[in-house]
Amino acid sequence: MHISVIGTGHVGLLTAVSMAAIGHDVVAEDIDHEKMEILQLGRAPFFEPGLDVLLDEAIRSGKLRFSTDVEDATQGADVVFICVGTPAGANGEANLVAVEKATQEVIRHVRPGTVLVEKSTVPAGTAARIERVIAMERPDIAAELYVVSNPEFLREGRAVQDCLEPDRILVGAGSRRAFNVMRRVYQPLLDKNVALIETNISTSELSKHACNAFLALKISYANAMARICERAGADVEAVAEIMGSDPRIGQDFLKAGLGWGGYCFPKDLTAFRLLASRLGYDFPLLAEVERINSEAVDVAIEKLRSCVWNLEGKRIALLGLSFKAGTDDVRFSPALVLARRMIEEGAVVIGYDPEARNNALKELTSLKVATNPYDAARGAHCIVIATDWPEFRDLDLAKLRELATYPMMVDARNLLDPLEAKKAGFHYDSMGRSAPS
Ligand code: UDX
Repeated sequence: MHISVIGTGHVGLLTAVSMAAIGHDVVAEDIDHEKMEILQLGRAPFFEPGLDVLLDEAIRSGKLRFSTDVEDATQGADVVFICVGTPAGANGEANLVAVEKATQEVIRHVRPGTVLVEKSTVPAGTAARIERVIAMERPDIAAELYVVSNPEFLREGRAVQDCLEPDRILVGAGSRRAFNVMRRVYQPLLDKNVALIETNISTSELSKHACNAFLALKISYANAMARICERAGADVEAVAEIMGSDPRIGQDFLKAGLGWGGYCFPKDLTAFRLLASRLGYDFPLLAEVERINSEAVDVAIEKLRSCVWNLEGKRIALLGLSFKAGTDDVRFSPALVLARRMIEEGAVVIGYDPEARNNALKELTSLKVATNPYDAARGAHCIVIATDWPEFRDLDLAKLRELATYPMMVDARNLLDPLEAKKAGFHYDSMGRSAPS
């Protein structure tokens, strides 16, 4: 099938390469010429495990090409995926200007029978707005253009796998014809027994927000539990494991730490709360989920103060800068929120991250960065683990202890074994775990 993808961010680029990987002919369009030049060379503009290989294969096979021209990208397309950004607007609601503009451009060039897919996360009601734009701007073919909601559930760091082996494919549409086209798009995955959920458009749109908000809620629940465990002398890791062993709860997304971040959860949660309110339903639970999340950084700052007293003039090694392991994305990274707070209090923060160094420097110019964790720790008054990179589990703790000025460590992601850290000579604190005896 001929597939067009508008927007080549995380969602768009992964959609484009995975559609090519399952055999479709894909043209991906973006207005960012610089990004297009990088992509044309077969290089991914961001770090995502496995993406470079898939991108290279797709380009070599001739299944994927890039264009900065919407007409070129959409002419003759059977399906157009709209994957443009939906950032938070000034009031926290999703800013849908790019979605509207992309729609207006695309419908100028498509032929009757084309399916327009909203893939970006959008509030319920967006497809109806898109349909109105079509009705007003292309009344000649409006009856033969089909709008579909097909939210993307990929996680950064495992996005390739999430696209090629998704837990489920969700399609919201208003006509059998549109469902059939989407079945043909995903047939290679359906043949591998991936579940397809077909529903109406509003249900599909709303489900994406409902999923992200619920996952954020689970993490905030674990973080609130960490606060209580500290007061009660219990261990949040054990509590989470016990909770998760109940299949009705499940183990995932119960890891307490420095809280959730990234480009999706913060903006989607706020947008969902505001959408609920716009629809006349007050949903204060979601505001509480956000409040508990921001509390995690406050707690980390308190722990630091208890380690080094005043932060003014102290040297802090910050291990991890990305919002989670497996990505170079620092957008809404709790690690950087923490870094900013420490710097505001007068600390010198030396960060280290396996992938996110450059992005972190762009976002926070007052940060200093080291090329390895040991250089970051040299002369530090406290070492803070802020991202759950697996390689931090294998750190040479004795060497870190030798390099640091004070034997202080705050493990804000509960990554290390408290006893091992104590054995290496650290005064070790983590989130919601009982201190090693
Ligand atoms: C999320 C959704 O999972 C995905 O389905 C959606 O399409 C986009 O948003 P992503 O932002 O890539 O994906 O990250 P995710 O793996 O969900 O983690 C989000 C945040 O929660 C990270 O900051 C992570 O460190 C944090 N987290 C996750 C925890 O603090 N504890 C956990 O138990 C799980």
